[in-house]
Amino acid sequence: MTNALISDDERFRHCLEIQRRVSSEHNLGRLAQLVMSEVTALLGADRSTLFLFDWDTMELRANFAEGIEGRALVVPLRMGIVGTAILRREVTNVSNAYTSPYFNPEVDSILGYRTESLLVAPLLGADGRILGGLELLNKTTGRFSADDEALTAQAAARLARWVERGDAYPAGVEAEVIALRNTVGCDRGTVFVLEENSGRLAAIHADGGDGRSISLNMKLGIAGLTAVTGRSMRIPEAWEDPRFDSSVDLRTGYRTRSMLCVPLKSTQGDSVGVVQAINKRVGEFSEDDLATLEAVAGIVAIAVENAMLFADQERQFHSMLDVLAASIDAKDGLTAGHSTNVSVIALAIGSELGFSSEELDLLRVAAVLHDYGKIGISDNVLKKEGRLDEEEFDHMKSHASLSEDILTRIHFTRKYRNVPMIAASHHECLDGSGYPRGLRGQEIPFMSKILTVADVFEALTADRHYRKKMNTEEALAILDAGAGTRFDSHVVAALRRHLAAAQTIPENSGAAGAQSAAG
Ligand SMILES: [Fe+2]
Repeated sequence: MTNALISDDERFRHCLEIQRRVSSEHNLGRLAQLVMSEVTALLGADRSTLFLFDWDTMELRANFAEGIEGRALVVPLRMGIVGTAILRREVTNVSNAYTSPYFNPEVDSILGYRTESLLVAPLLGADGRILGGLELLNKTTGRFSADDEALTAQAAARLARWVERGDAYPAGVEAEVIALRNTVGCDRGTVFVLEENSGRLAAIHADGGDGRSISLNMKLGIAGLTAVTGRSMRIPEAWEDPRFDSSVDLRTGYRTRSMLCVPLKSTQGDSVGVVQAINKRVGEFSEDDLATLEAVAGIVAIAVENAMLFADQERQFHSMLDVLAASIDAKDGLTAGHSTNVSVIALAIGSELGFSSEELDLLRVAAVLHDYGKIGISDNVLKKEGRLDEEEFDHMKSHASLSEDILTRIHFTRKYRNVPMIAASHHECLDGSGYPRGLRGQEIPFMSKILTVADVFEALTADRHYRKKMNTEEALAILDAGAGTRFDSHVVAALRRHLAAAQTIPENSGAAGAQSAAG
């Protein structure tokens, strides 16, 4: 069905359907794909893209899954006359800013100022590295001259040396800019310094301004412009538009013709990204198409914001896990890395058994934390070189229930709810001979059975205070001997399959031979 035949009612229903589908998706990559295919279909476009801001690098990150074999593109954020001049490493002289396609009027509106003429010189390091830029605004007699260009370039070179030495401002820069402004005869002079970690140009208003610090994003292309201005754009012929960044087409061999770009705004009104549709299959994108995409963008922005929040929480959760794991490691240098190694082995077993990624996440968290209770075991027991006496062994065994006591105090959400129980049951045995509860068979969580096998295998194949490490075959023999009584035989078999596939053991080293070795 062509887009022209879609009625308003149908568009509304499509929007509701998109809302339903995107609102439950918390994975940004999958969200991007979902939005792209929905928008492409809805607008009758050839392709659509969801760009998301990467605040760390100040880039818009795009994900074209369609047509270009899922290659991810990174569009650098470069825009505005200052940014463009600096990136081109050229002195740029503009007589009427508002007619320049590179001009970003947002800064004027922030500062309540009207830019007319403008002269920009880049500040470059001795090695050609971009340090910032020098900008002069509003020549009193109209247009900046060739002499002004030369003077500004010289001043920029001097400033660059100061900035490079790190002794630039405020006094030296201010004097330099005031002198230059008086010589050239203009309204305002500004020095911008590139902040390397953010990729932003920080302005130092040396004179003529109101002292407020502003910083410019360096942006390029229609999507970047849409993100910065927060205004939608409808472009009938991209290659005829000077704001279009053709480098992406040149790189991919794709030919962009028509474009629709709509900003995604967070609930606070900040740009969080851009949704874009490219190449209307029949005719041009209409005003109706733009309205439709804007409606979709409103829905998508909420989903994106949720997904970002969710990703933030995940990052925070995993950094907390890392800290907890490090604190167990710090307790005993010889077993340091045990929890991480157990999680690697447990994940290998889980994958071998066909666990979903959600299940593997849960297994990993439980594995990393399984021995957390050892934090409460005294050092003379934990690091004892000989055999533990009965009292000491009882104390050592208490680490399993301690793990549960401590972990239940952490607020685990959703899929991680069962972490304390799974972690605490890693010393339970099928025949009920384990601890802390003496659970049997089906009473033991299946993930705990994986942890038990991973834990024993890791411990046997690593050096301990009381013995030297075993090789893989010796360790597998012990596991095989306990399969069905202490250990779940499916889990032991899965570990063996994994080790064989990883070529840690020969393909055909069967359980029978191993058992006789153990016996
Ligand atoms: Fe343990």
